[in-house]
Amino acid sequence: MNPLAAELNAMLTEYNPHVLEMLSGLGKNMYFPKGILTQSAEAKEKAHKFNATIGIATENGGPMFLGCIQDRLSAFDPKDIYPYAPPAGKPELRSLWREKQLRENPSQAGKHFSNPIVTNALTHGLSIVADLFVDKGDHLVLPDMLWGNYNLTFGVCSGAEIKKHETFNEAGGYNVEAFRRTLRKSAEEKKKVIVLLNFPNNPSGYTPTVAEGDAIVEAIRETAESGCNVVAVTDDAYFGLFYEDTLKESLFGKLANLHPRILAIKLDGATKEEFVWGFRTGFITFADGNSHENSPVMTALEKKTMGIIRARISNCPHPSQTFVIEALRSPDFLRQKEEKLHTMKGRALKTKEVLNSGNYLKAWDYYPFNSGYFMCLRLKTVDAEKLRIHLLDRYGVGTISTTKTDLRIAFSCIAESDIQELFDIIYRGVQDIS
Ligand SMILES: Cc1ncc(COP(=O)(O)O)c(C=O)c1O
Repeated sequence: MNPLAAELNAMLTEYNPHVLEMLSGLGKNMYFPKGILTQSAEAKEKAHKFNATIGIATENGGPMFLGCIQDRLSAFDPKDIYPYAPPAGKPELRSLWREKQLRENPSQAGKHFSNPIVTNALTHGLSIVADLFVDKGDHLVLPDMLWGNYNLTFGVCSGAEIKKHETFNEAGGYNVEAFRRTLRKSAEEKKKVIVLLNFPNNPSGYTPTVAEGDAIVEAIRETAESGCNVVAVTDDAYFGLFYEDTLKESLFGKLANLHPRILAIKLDGATKEEFVWGFRTGFITFADGNSHENSPVMTALEKKTMGIIRARISNCPHPSQTFVIEALRSPDFLRQKEEKLHTMKGRALKTKEVLNSGNYLKAWDYYPFNSGYFMCLRLKTVDAEKLRIHLLDRYGVGTISTTKTDLRIAFSCIAESDIQELFDIIYRGVQDIS
């Protein structure tokens, strides 16, 4: 093992040995090298005469660039676009995002957590978690309505065994009891379990109530109490898009500093929240279980995260970090976001109104939804994939079949005035093939 990795592991052993136990083999071996990046960072501060360190080209005291690109980006200073961004992300972006997290998640106030580290959006954050914490055969607890890409990231790439529980109970609420049962069973078999909480959920569009959220946190605490380490990850991709009376903050705040055997990891980002999907800007934030400031644990996790970023993608795109900084600092940011939230909420509520008309009862009912981009129909009479293909071929309407019975509708992409027609067409499609 590299001495730098051993040094980080020793910090974990001293300040929270459970976090060391949670790391995968790769996570234990990971470190941030004192290589080119560290030497370049030192030179950036001290090399006032010539800086012949890092692999970019310079000219006239700044980065070299092509006019045909800069002409289109002239609002931005070349130094904020072309050079590599720091491996953990632009410091200003990290602190602005931390402030935003605190503003929007009152339960994070007074908690100790790391500075957010910039990722290449949430998918990358998920793969960092998989690399650092998942070994072959580790259990990952998820609801059965889940974003399919988790299977690739955790199952195929890292060999996790995915343990699914029913998403909803008979009463149409979140099935916390099934979650607790699944968690308990894993805790009986394993010394560590990874829990992935995704609210608003893809594909169902559900966010738990405050009481359900508390019960989820309590089930995790009980598991830790029983002696099992829990890596509790919140995938907050659709954060903020809450339309009804639900939890309106990430469960990360309540999981942070809760129990020494719980490591809370928050994955969030600008992609869905700020409608900049292609920018690929997200964050990973850690909070260990100690109630006091535990900075050596945060430092060790930050260094290991920087190491895995360096190993896999070197660093994240610079221009989009600059664009997101501009947005977060803009006096129009909050107002414009509020306007878009209003539009999305209008679509969600219209979808509910149309579905509640009673016109489609023979064809489907629908799963509870109150947030995010999506909702799911539960078809009663036809196969979802067959219907999907029919809708595409006959009507030019695109939907996603997620199981034999479930059809996911992204109301986020349908104007409010078109929602009635969309469901009428889907209903006609069901009648065609029944
Ligand atoms: C639940 C969930 N998490 C993460 C992602 C990926 O987000 P990003 O584009 O930021 O990688 C998606 C995208 O569809 C998603 O639905």
